[in-house]
Amino acid sequence: MLERNRAALPSSLDTLAPTRRLQRLRRTAPLRDLVAETGFTRSQLVQPLFIVEDPADARDIAGLPGNARLTPESALARLDADLESGVRQFLLFPVPARKHARDFEPAFICETIALLRRRATREDATFWLDTCLCSYTADGHCCLHDARGEQDLPATLDALAGLALDYAAAGADGIAPSDMNDGRVAALRLALDAAGHDLVPIMSYSAKFASQLYGPFRGAANSAPKHGDRRRYQIDVRARRDALASSQRCADEGADLLMVKPGMSSLDLIQPIADATGLAVGAYQVSGEYAALALLAREGFADFDAALLESWHALRRGGAAFIITYGARLGRALGLAAR
Ligand code: PBG
Ligand code: ZN
Repeated sequence: MLERNRAALPSSLDTLAPTRRLQRLRRTAPLRDLVAETGFTRSQLVQPLFIVEDPADARDIAGLPGNARLTPESALARLDADLESGVRQFLLFPVPARKHARDFEPAFICETIALLRRRATREDATFWLDTCLCSYTADGHCCLHDARGEQDLPATLDALAGLALDYAAAGADGIAPSDMNDGRVAALRLALDAAGHDLVPIMSYSAKFASQLYGPFRGAANSAPKHGDRRRYQIDVRARRDALASSQRCADEGADLLMVKPGMSSLDLIQPIADATGLAVGAYQVSGEYAALALLAREGFADFDAALLESWHALRRGGAAFIITYGARLGRALGLAAR
């Protein structure tokens, strides 16, 4: 019986196997939409805002089209426009007029937070504060140094906690430590809790690599290191285990949200970090990544909007729960739903 059925079949089994035509489901937009696995909304995009203390520093940011350095007053107008575009999450970067070795002066950013807070309630907008020292320190480093030039970790953690408390007291919704110093999440959590800010979440830059891709940002934040580089505290690009351990430790110390950075070159880490910690992990599409797309488009090699959307979907496919991007305010124009 078996023999006879076989005989009726073509001699070569190869001809029986039809070509696997994967293109059938790529043929039309409705079919492509049917099988799409990633999607996200404007609610999951975070828009960075740079706030300068000195009005003379307020100007467009080289490399980041559509982004400018804002004064407290122009930040209000920007907020109105961004809310209108459906942005709900903001990440604020303070750019002080004067640098110091210690004893920083965050009054201008606290006033800005209060100003924005009066304009938008916690239900209207979430204001995260990038919490680091490099835009405040004279040497442009994310930590403090002692007289011998060694890192002064206790003083660094004190300074970070001091800033976080000022930001929270001014009305910040969340604290986002980007410094990569050991123990900072625990130090911030303890300080916030002790001051009654126990419901202020920490979004930790938990897997942040030393990178060439922060160039436009350092121009915007005036935070390039005056000597050396950041490789003593940011993660080496080759060190996957370090990135996982750094993220796990942030989770253990009480971080509420984690993040990889630069996002597009950390796609391999997002889902593993989420699986290991059980926390939502975001991706920061950093200034150099955003600028690279803008430069491609400027040279006529890509369509900017389509390239941006493509990169966001790739981050999402990699497991990103949210995306920090200089193009968040373009979300509506790109057709993303509100939520
Ligand atoms: C400050 C900070 C940096 C970025 C975010 N927070 C720069 C750095 O670490 O040198 C980079 C963001 C970007 O490039 O878009 N610690
Ligand atoms: Zn820093």
